[in-house]
Amino acid sequence: MRLLNASGCLDALTAPDVARSLDAFVTKTVTPLPREGNAPVRIAETDVGMLNSIGLANPGRDAFVAETLPQLRELGVPLWVSVGGFSAHEYAETCAQLDDVTIELNLSCPNVEEAADTAAAIVAACRAATTLPLYAKLSPANWNISDVARAVQGAGADGLSLVNTIRGTALDERTLAPRLGTVAGGLSGPALKPIALAAVFACWRATRPPIVGMGGVMTGRDALELVAAGAEDVALGTVLFRDPDAPARVRAELAAELSALGVADVDTLRGVAHEGGVEALISAAH
Ligand SMILES: Cc1cc2nc3c(=O)[nH]c(=O)nc-3n(C[C@H](O)[C@H](O)[C@H](O)COP(=O)(O)O)c2cc1C
Repeated sequence: MRLLNASGCLDALTAPDVARSLDAFVTKTVTPLPREGNAPVRIAETDVGMLNSIGLANPGRDAFVAETLPQLRELGVPLWVSVGGFSAHEYAETCAQLDDVTIELNLSCPNVEEAADTAAAIVAACRAATTLPLYAKLSPANWNISDVARAVQGAGADGLSLVNTIRGTALDERTLAPRLGTVAGGLSGPALKPIALAAVFACWRATRPPIVGMGGVMTGRDALELVAAGAEDVALGTVLFRDPDAPARVRAELAAELSALGVADVDTLRGVAHEGGVEALISAAH
């Protein structure tokens, strides 16, 4: 199991030590043209997690490739570049400009209004444009996520990143007006964990793809549960805003969980939720 950050939840250039404490660094989503993002307010805390309406603010592909990427390479950490766009062609053009990275296709941003082509069409265009590893990041809002998973794998995705945020709204306590400038934003954090588990479970059951699990991971226990549902790797998102030491802490907590179970390697627990849980596994070993 590799531990990554979730896209948009860590600025590696301002916090290089946090990035180096991960097994790979995932960039914020890059779009062809620079984007300022949505109007403020763009972040609202709620009782169960965080709402954001950043809206894919980023310097654009050309500045990213010319300026940001060379600086990120100096970190010495494997890089994943999150690619966004508003048509299959736009995604594919960015993929064609990248080298020596893993690509995560952000097929699922809830903060961007423009309609994109279908997920499978985008993946197929990107597959034709690059031989780099391609992960498709999906929205948990789709009721039949395993159908989307099958379609994007059929179009050439090597793996899945599950899940992106889900749309939510918060109202001001006093005025009852929406707190975000865009009214609705993406909900992340603890409320997303059961939703992420359901998505990972369904996609693993459908096709057993490589999966980066994310959504509400705050502790080593949360990471373990995503692996049990079928994740190969795990990403930390919202938790990094509160606790920059989360990577080391989550690893230590995971090690403690494994030793309590008498299991040496977390990878042996991948998908165990599908086989009656850990007790069935342990009794089969004896
Ligand atoms: C402030 C913020 C910015 C984000 N930006 C992106 C982004 O640019 N691209 C993307 O694919 N996901 C983005 N996400 C979603 C996260 O990568 C992740 O899928 C989601 O937050 C669920 O994980 P978590 O509950 O651990 O935060 C963003 C999330 C937050 C909170």
